[in-house]
Amino acid sequence: MARVGILTGGGDCPGLNAVIRAVVRRAEGEFDVLGFRYGWAGVLDGDSLPLNLDNTRGLLHRGGTILGTSRTNPFKEDGGVERIASTLEATGVDCLIAIGGEDTLGVARRLGEHDIDVVGVPKTIDNDLAGTDFTFGFHTAVQIATDAIDRLHTTAESHNRVMVVEVMGRHAGWIAVYSGMAGGADVILVPERPFDMDEVCERIRRRHGAGRSFSIVVVSEGATPRDGAESHAGAGTDAFGHARLGGIAVNLERGIAERTGYESRMTILGHVQRGGTPTAFDRVLATRFGVAAVDAVRDGDSGQMVALQGTAIRRVPLGDALSEPKLLDPALYETAEVFFG
Ligand code: F6P
Repeated sequence: MARVGILTGGGDCPGLNAVIRAVVRRAEGEFDVLGFRYGWAGVLDGDSLPLNLDNTRGLLHRGGTILGTSRTNPFKEDGGVERIASTLEATGVDCLIAIGGEDTLGVARRLGEHDIDVVGVPKTIDNDLAGTDFTFGFHTAVQIATDAIDRLHTTAESHNRVMVVEVMGRHAGWIAVYSGMAGGADVILVPERPFDMDEVCERIRRRHGAGRSFSIVVVSEGATPRDGAESHAGAGTDAFGHARLGGIAVNLERGIAERTGYESRMTILGHVQRGGTPTAFDRVLATRFGVAAVDAVRDGDSGQMVALQGTAIRRVPLGDALSEPKLLDPALYETAEVFFG
């Protein structure tokens, strides 16, 4: 029987296990499935385990990934491509299914140039991959952030405070805008639109001047002040050159309190947004992607990524999906702005 390898790379997100389960179910009777541990690291090192119906049962609702993940970049490793090719030969894997975001799928695309067959499955809570309307994990992260904003609302109201909520979103403000709109935020700050602290404070002052006693500000971790830079949570970068973001909410809390005199508190949601059980939407999307990925393997369609376009699952070339990040739709932001303070 032909053999398919599967890996999960980059930041984890709810729905990865649902894809793994779906791949195994769709492959049953047609392909053997071999899982590689910890993303590309498992393929480099030949660290794998056979997947079957028994060891992938009960995964649909489980967050995280049973395979583990990492931000390993084979193109940063000595002889990385050769090591991958030799693992695939030794294990008899004909095609890989790589589940990941821009970095993991970027590796998949480049491996195609070395005649290594890979089909991509898009995942990221950030929802910033082009070619697909949604990535699984995003909807769950939005729900988690919305629940948090709802909770912050009641405490903000009790204390007459400005609450600043920092959500994930490295290049794109999708989580901020969706959760901010759903949670009734008074200001939403996103990476696509550098902000002016005076304007933010003016909006809050105007709202309080109109009789409101509290405000909610939602900010993406990648948002920047017009005259400033990204806030980094530590020094250094990962194997794909990304700095660890975090802390813009600290500056906003201080800036807002100093300029307006309103008591302010910030909350950084962080990895809570990536944990736990996927929403029904993400379970269904992940399942559809897993089935479609096996169908693409069967059709010999490597170099493609499965994608959601409208309500249909389609295939798009990895190169198209990775040419540039999918940034916020300006019309969506303008709708959110209607409700700003
Ligand atoms: O890419 C998804 C993401 O959750 C980003 O929103 C965030 O900046 C990053 O991963 C955090 O990565 P890590 O888990 O390595 O800290």
